[in-house]
Amino acid sequence: MRRLPAGAPEPLESLLLSDEEIRERVAQMGARITQDYAGRDLVLVTVLKGGLFFLADLCRAIELPLALDFMAISTYGPAAHTGEVRITKDLDEDLTGRAVIVVEDIIDTGMTLNYLLGVLRGRGPASVEVCVLLDKDVRRIVDLPIAYRGFSIPDRFVVGYGLDLDAGLRNLPYIATLPDSVMGM
Ligand code: IMP
Ligand code: MG
Repeated sequence: MRRLPAGAPEPLESLLLSDEEIRERVAQMGARITQDYAGRDLVLVTVLKGGLFFLADLCRAIELPLALDFMAISTYGPAAHTGEVRITKDLDEDLTGRAVIVVEDIIDTGMTLNYLLGVLRGRGPASVEVCVLLDKDVRRIVDLPIAYRGFSIPDRFVVGYGLDLDAGLRNLPYIATLPDSVMGM
């Protein structure tokens, strides 16, 4: 268990990734994407709201021209076993012939992203890859090709750097775990 920064809000349990660790890793990921996508017509697609924080830092670590676009989704309640979601805000960009990278904060079961990848592939892009900051790989139900992965993390509920608990705690600059008691486990 790593110590939380001074002044950390209740009910955090322990530090998982410091702001400096996140910053270093995001810089590396941006450098990799810069190498891989030179000369491509790059679009970074992010799902609101959790991915916003990672996207903002990642895109500034990519030294290439690129477009940003956003989707918002809502799940059909807790029993969304198929991962099927309703798109509540769709993209503005036309993806036809373009190199798309889906930028996500976290992949858990992979159901949501698997569904979204199907939607995006149906729009005629030249390529679609996934860039995720946190991968809870032990929880994976569907196998997803992940081109860029920040950190593999254990099966704990985490908050901060975009990740929320009931819409709160997104704006922490670091990522922390919650005690299992908070999650009712
Ligand atoms: P999946 O379809 O199971 O991969 O669900 C992924 C979504 O669940 C993410 O986009 C998050 O919104 C949410 N999620 C999964 N694990 C966590 C967590 O530890 N903290 C906050 N949100 C999480
Ligand atoms: Mg969420």
